[in-house]
Amino acid sequence: MCGIVGYIGKRDAAPLLLEGLQRLEYRGYDSAGIAVGGRPGALRSVKSKGRVRELQAKLPKRFAGTTGIAHTRWATHGAPNDENAHPHLDGEGKVAVVHNGIIDNAPELRARLTAEGVLLASETDSEVLAHLIGRSTAETLEERVRGALRLVEGTYGIAVLHSDFPDRIVVARNGSPVVLGIADKEMFVSSDVAALVSHTRQVVTLGDGEMATVQAGDYRTYTTEGDRTSAAPTTVEWEPESYDMGGHDTYMHKEISEQAEAVDRVLRGRIDDRFATVRLGGLSLDAREARGVRRVKILGCGSAYYSGQIGAQLIEELARVPADAEPASEFRYRNAVVDPDTLYIAVSQSGETYDTLAAVQELKRKGARVLGVVNVVGSAIARETDGGIYVHAGPEVCVVSTKCFTNTAVAFALFALHLGRIRDLSVADGRRILAGLRRLPEQIAEVLRGEREIAAIAADYADARSMMFVGRVRGYPVAREAAQKLKEVSYIHAEAYPASELKHGPLALIEPEVPTVAIVPDDDLLEKNRATLEEIKARKGRILAVAHQEQERADHTILVPRNEVELDPILMGIPLQLLAYHTALALGRDIDKPRNLAKSVTVE
Ligand code: G6P
Repeated sequence: MCGIVGYIGKRDAAPLLLEGLQRLEYRGYDSAGIAVGGRPGALRSVKSKGRVRELQAKLPKRFAGTTGIAHTRWATHGAPNDENAHPHLDGEGKVAVVHNGIIDNAPELRARLTAEGVLLASETDSEVLAHLIGRSTAETLEERVRGALRLVEGTYGIAVLHSDFPDRIVVARNGSPVVLGIADKEMFVSSDVAALVSHTRQVVTLGDGEMATVQAGDYRTYTTEGDRTSAAPTTVEWEPESYDMGGHDTYMHKEISEQAEAVDRVLRGRIDDRFATVRLGGLSLDAREARGVRRVKILGCGSAYYSGQIGAQLIEELARVPADAEPASEFRYRNAVVDPDTLYIAVSQSGETYDTLAAVQELKRKGARVLGVVNVVGSAIARETDGGIYVHAGPEVCVVSTKCFTNTAVAFALFALHLGRIRDLSVADGRRILAGLRRLPEQIAEVLRGEREIAAIAADYADARSMMFVGRVRGYPVAREAAQKLKEVSYIHAEAYPASELKHGPLALIEPEVPTVAIVPDDDLLEKNRATLEEIKARKGRILAVAHQEQERADHTILVPRNEVELDPILMGIPLQLLAYHTALALGRDIDKPRNLAKSVTVE
């Protein structure tokens, strides 16, 4: 999704801004632009359709300026072209604005500006901001920005330059992330810490309805109403190197390969052998409250939702509390009945997915208790929830989620165990699950060692027109996530079904050109799953099984080590990430930047 970078200091801004944009490339974009200032006089701006390197090639030799803002755009209003790229300028070229989000009342504002004689240079919603700020005569830039924001409805993260106020950048946030990076006599601004960490680990994350004035040696935060807020910097834990490719050809491959260490991190410091449970310090849910929970409802989007389905299953099994997961994107629109005895859990890698954030805000408004299961520390969802669990997967750069999905599932296992041990899960079962959790990193490493065979299998299935993914109960969310992964990176159509539902419809699709991936753990449903394989074979369907033992009816079986049955979904998803990866590789896809997708969807 769109990315913002800003710099103010003593150095030449353009190279720093371009480097920042490159760090945000992973989010997906279709055009880019930059504006520099820093001294009285007109701002200078260059924009380009396409990649950041195309923008770089267009920059004039002399493009000096010690203050600047830059942007990568993902088209929403208007085609991806040079005119629609940000920054947008006002008519006089004094104001430059970069904007993430969507201005809902842009059509009315555009019409009003046009009627007043303003010539609009783009088809975007964002451009109105530049003109509204530009025509304001208020004394300070902050007041001018505030005045413009009062007129717009919608979501935004913005950064504003004004040539009459060359010593500052003004930023504001409502729904789209804005982070300040604090360095020595220079400051950075971004929509994502990824663009800042090579310069500073000291950051301030703005909250919704917050603005900031950023100057070379100073910053001030305040509400859009003008009231000062206190925003002490926090330290980003992630090392700058963890954003590099580290010798892999793609981030997806790197992140799949990192999963043993990532799972080790989500477990670290949390296991409590004495009571056969785990300690989750950030939960803010005492034992009495935990016992009072009558239901758990998990909300997330995309892979986060599927990991929530695994979570719901774990909570029902280990804590015997009714639990289910629902797409946050649906929940927020259906005027949900909010029950005071239900514990709500929002799941998000980025912590910034707008649909999930909106669901959290709706729940809080209705008085619900909401926890977060989030990867990015200090992100909007982490801040707006009452407590939660950080999944500690480290930065995930590839658009499609792999290590975060796995770590989130493990985080849910921790939560389910914690809730279970406060309720009626026995010490013996607590110990059994803890032992299983401890085995995960080594078993993940074992699965990853089978990559070569999985690559060979992927080559065999890469010609499929469509693929079915089936799993039963614990295996069903695994099938859904695996189908999603294949779709996202290989563009092969894939459909996931509960294995039990196959005969109620999709069996009609089975033929040799539509292979099936079946999740077949050695659990109490093994015989049922074998019967499903028979049904598929009888229709001459090819079968790839992910199982604990060779499956006779399958054309290929990928073997996964045994763990405790409740934890099977965690391990069984991993070979299927490799399957999606190698299928996409065989088909020559742009793996880290799948078409039409963005890492973090911060708009509606
Ligand atoms: C986007 C991404 C998905 C991701 C979803 C939720 O749609 O393309 O891969 O699963 O957002 O992201 P989150 O950051 O909330 O986990």
